[in-house]
Formats: sequence, C-alpha cells, structure tokens
Amino acid sequence: MGQSRNVLLICGGGGTEHDISLISAKYFESKLALIPDINTVYLCIERDGRRTNKIGQQCELRKAGEVFNKETQETIALDYAIPCIHGPPGENGHIQAVFELMGLPYLGANPEASISCFNKVMTKLWLDKLRVENNPYTFARELNPQTLQDFEEFFEKNNQDIYIKATHQGSSVGCYHILKKELIKEKMSEALKLSPIVLAERTSRGRELEVAAFDYQGELHISSPGEIVCPEGFYTFEEKYNPDSKTVTNIEAKGIDQEIQDKIREMARVAFIGLGLKDLARIDFFLTEDNVPLINEINTFPGHTPISMFPMMMENLGIKYEDYLKNRIFKN
Ligand SMILES: Nc1ncnc2c1ncn2[C@@H]1O[C@H](COP(=O)(O)OP(=O)(O)O)[C@@H](O)[C@H]1O
Ligand SMILES: [Mg+2]
Repeated sequence: MGQSRNVLLICGGGGTEHDISLISAKYFESKLALIPDINTVYLCIERDGRRTNKIGQQCELRKAGEVFNKETQETIALDYAIPCIHGPPGENGHIQAVFELMGLPYLGANPEASISCFNKVMTKLWLDKLRVENNPYTFARELNPQTLQDFEEFFEKNNQDIYIKATHQGSSVGCYHILKKELIKEKMSEALKLSPIVLAERTSRGRELEVAAFDYQGELHISSPGEIVCPEGFYTFEEKYNPDSKTVTNIEAKGIDQEIQDKIREMARVAFIGLGLKDLARIDFFLTEDNVPLINEINTFPGHTPISMFPMMMENLGIKYEDYLKNRIFKN
C-alpha cells in the first residue's frame, strides 16, 4: 500500500435524518483515523444545500472527483467515498449515481440496489420474487375511492390491525399503527405527503430482530440476530433517538433456536445477493409469535451512532470496524 488515499466522508443531507448522519460521521472519522495512509476529507451537505468542510468553509464536489475549497481555492483529488447519509440523497441512490459519474469508488450499494431498498414496496416485490417471506401488503400511488376501499378491505382482512407507511422514508417517519378504520384515509393522505407511494402491511406481533450483512475479505458475512426490545411494540422516531428512550438493544437476541437463527441468516443472504447489495446492509426482521421470521426492511446505510447495532454486531463477530473499512478502501 504505502500510498495515501483521500477518502471523502460526506454526511448531512436535507432529510429528517440529517443530525443522525452527523453522529454516524463522527464514528467513521474516529475509525478512519486509526487506518494508516488515510486522509479523511469531510464534507457536510447542510440543510440549505451548501457544502461545508470540518471548519465551515464552503466547498464544492466537482465532476472530476475532487473537492474544491471555495475559500482557499485548494483542490483535493478523491480516491474513495463514504456516503454517510441516512435517507435522501444517500440511501435513495442519488449520491451513488454522482459517484458513478465521477468514476469514484464508494462504500455501499449502487444506485439501483439503493433505491430498491429505499422504496419499501420495491423491496417487498423483490422479496416475493426471491421467495423471502415478508408481511402481506397492499399499496397505492394516490388516495381515491378505489385505493381507499382496497386499504379498508385489507384492514378488515388483517384483524383490523395494520401499519400504514410512507414508502421512501426511514426513522419511522410517516409510519402509523392503525387500529381504527376511520384513521385509514387520514394516514394514507399523510403518508402520501411524505413519499410517492403509500404501503399498508399486516401487523406483526412478536419480536424485532436485525442482522448485519457485509462483504469482508471476499466473503459475505452475516451476524447472528440482534434484538430491539421496544416496550410499546412500535419503534418510533422518539424511541430510536431520544436519550430517554425505553428501548433496549441486545447484540445477540436471547433464546432463539439455532434452526430459526440459521433461517434468518439464510433469508438475509438471499436478500443481500438477490437485491444486488454491496459492502454493507442492516437487514431487519420480525419474528412472529409463531416463530416465523419475516423480513421487514433493508437499510443500505445503517446508523453508526453509539447506540447503533450494525457496528456492534460486526465487532461481535470479531471484526474490527477499522479493519473492515481498510479492507473496503484498499480493495479499490
Ligand atoms: N408490519 C408491522 N408490524 C409490526 N410493527 C411494525 C410493522 N411495520 C412497522 N412496524 C414498527 O414500526 C417501526 C418502523 O417501521 P419500518 O418499516 O422499519 O420503517 P423505518 O424505515 O422508518 O424504520 C418498526 O421498527 C416497527 O416497530
Ligand atoms: Mg426500520
């Protein structure tokens, strides 16, 4: 190796997960600092769209794969990029498309796989095709008498207990637990203000599990399932990020039969490969009261905050995060 690499660490974005992305970026900065021959080039996409570096100087990401500092007129040629952005424009594949145009290698899924996972309906269509079990669902692009009737029938068919969700969102934004028929219309409408498609799903009673899936040294690794224990049974935005959250996470879910664990890891493997993922993903499951694992969703750029499960699940497999990053960066 020997030769130093300029690694773009881009974070922020205009979405609801802007602040979370900055916390994840701190984790990446600390890990990148442990790798010899890495020069971290920090760039924040501010809420107003400006790009700023660590000390607030305005910068520009240029087509040639460079960061141009507008204040010092300095240019840094990039070797690799880490799109540390949760939600748009990171997890929806947009920033990856920019890197593709620049010919810049980057961490994580390509634009197509990113959008397939960011759009919860597209994910489910793929899971069905791959014969990976997930909750029954229906979806619509608009609210009209037919789609409302379809959702109401779906509600009746599923014990009057469903979730309605905005499809292109994360952090439980635009996600509603519906136990009253009267709420369907209002929540469909709210979800459609937040994303182009609205999804309804049968409610899973049971446990919420997740695995870390990642490529390392030429092999796809899948952790054993971790668990989110959420007292209210609904892992809301507040439960995810509020310091007073009552939710507990366990890196290794307790008391799950080996056979079920193997099934979960196999489902994650089929989904990772089938959806064309690369480098990393956190794959979230429900384990129903009847012990049936179902995939809930796939996060192509999971949180890396101090309470996030993805890095902990990787380290629990005995792989240091800095070694993983080094392996990814120097592979290119
Ligand atoms: N079908 C469902 N059954 C039970 N709980 C659900 C269901 N869908 C969502 N939830 C609850 O809502 C949370 C957020 O939903 P999720 O689909 O994971 O969206 P996000 O991308 O915002 O995390 C889940 O972690 C879970 O607690
Ligand atoms: Mg989720």
